Amino acid sequence: MNGTIEKFNRHVVHSYGRYDLVLDSGKSRTAVDDGGKEYIDFGSGIGTNSLGYCDEKWVEAVCAQAHAIQHTSNYYYTKVQADFAAKLCELTGYSKMFFGNSGAEANECAIKIARKYSFDKYGKDAQRWVIITLVNSFHGRTIATLSATGQDVFHNYFFPFVEGFVNAEANNIDDLKAKLKENEGRVCAVMFECIQGEGGVIALDKEFVKAAAEECEKNDILLICDEVQTGVGRTGKFLACEHYGVKPNIVTLAKGLAGGIPIGVCLTDEKTCEVLTPGTHGSTFGGNPIACAGGLAVLDRVSSEGFLEGIDAKAAYFREKLSEIGEVEGVDGIGLMIGVRLKTKDAHDVAKACLDSGLLILTAKEKLRFLPPLTITKEEIDKGIAILRSVLEQ
Ligand SMILES: Cc1ncc(COP(=O)(O)O)c(C=O)c1O
Repeated sequence: MNGTIEKFNRHVVHSYGRYDLVLDSGKSRTAVDDGGKEYIDFGSGIGTNSLGYCDEKWVEAVCAQAHAIQHTSNYYYTKVQADFAAKLCELTGYSKMFFGNSGAEANECAIKIARKYSFDKYGKDAQRWVIITLVNSFHGRTIATLSATGQDVFHNYFFPFVEGFVNAEANNIDDLKAKLKENEGRVCAVMFECIQGEGGVIALDKEFVKAAAEECEKNDILLICDEVQTGVGRTGKFLACEHYGVKPNIVTLAKGLAGGIPIGVCLTDEKTCEVLTPGTHGSTFGGNPIACAGGLAVLDRVSSEGFLEGIDAKAAYFREKLSEIGEVEGVDGIGLMIGVRLKTKDAHDVAKACLDSGLLILTAKEKLRFLPPLTITKEEIDKGIAILRSVLEQ
């Protein structure tokens, strides 16, 4: 291991539980460790390396941008930012977007827009700043997004949390209506993930999402979809909310959007795109040209003919193979965002055993979680499933 792990642990704050694995390189859907051992990747970072490792066109775009101009302040414009934003708005049907660097930042922006929308329209005295989020949600690690996150386990140590977040039960429209009633006139937004990712890969019901969107529309409450994990083709549609037939006022994206380079985006519709004005929000690195170049390569690929249909086919195949394994109790999620319930085994033990056998997988709560690169092939699915099967049958 060349002392990497010891050196790292001596100098880096211990805020993650890590495997004893040092990754050195990667190609396509295979990662290589510092001893030359190969691993099929069913996690793609955590859904970030959407085109796999070092995709040729992506590398070309990123390197060309690094040679041209790597960064400039947001006092100036760059072409690659304009091209990226135009393409993303064209693909999603949104009016405008804000550039940040991560999922949490994208959500911070959404929260600020929601609150300012109500402030501008109803005034400060209305205190119309409550945001309803769902129990078991996950929205990030900054203080505001932790406060938005509907899991008690995250509401510790860092007091005081940000006020103005109320949780309603997922898939329980009566509870959402009750929370709206309790906070009548004070709610500026409802925010959720269409598929709760960190919460255990749990897709919301269509009826619930539709009814929630109707309640928002009726009461001039903004609907925010956190598509940090579900967006950019992961579910077989560019946005997961397309499966639900709703168009939120605000959508946040991050993870897979730039193929593994930090980016976070807050998409705004015609109602919300003028809320932020000069000086009300910003980010030094937001819209970094190299991230935008990588992002454009991702957008070009995901919007290429037949790509999303290909994800549907691969996902159906992946899911079928998983459900044939005896230890598998059920397969959750949509498209290539997959959660697996196991009958008897512990998901974390299984993930560790898979790693030892050359397969990288993720967990979410008590489930196995798979977020493979969108470019994964059937052969690679077979190879990874064979490893998983042998681990589960041991
Ligand atoms: C749905 C969702 N929102 C927000 C975040 C936070 O993203 P980031 O870690 O990039 O800040 C995550 C990360 O897992 C996520 O899954």
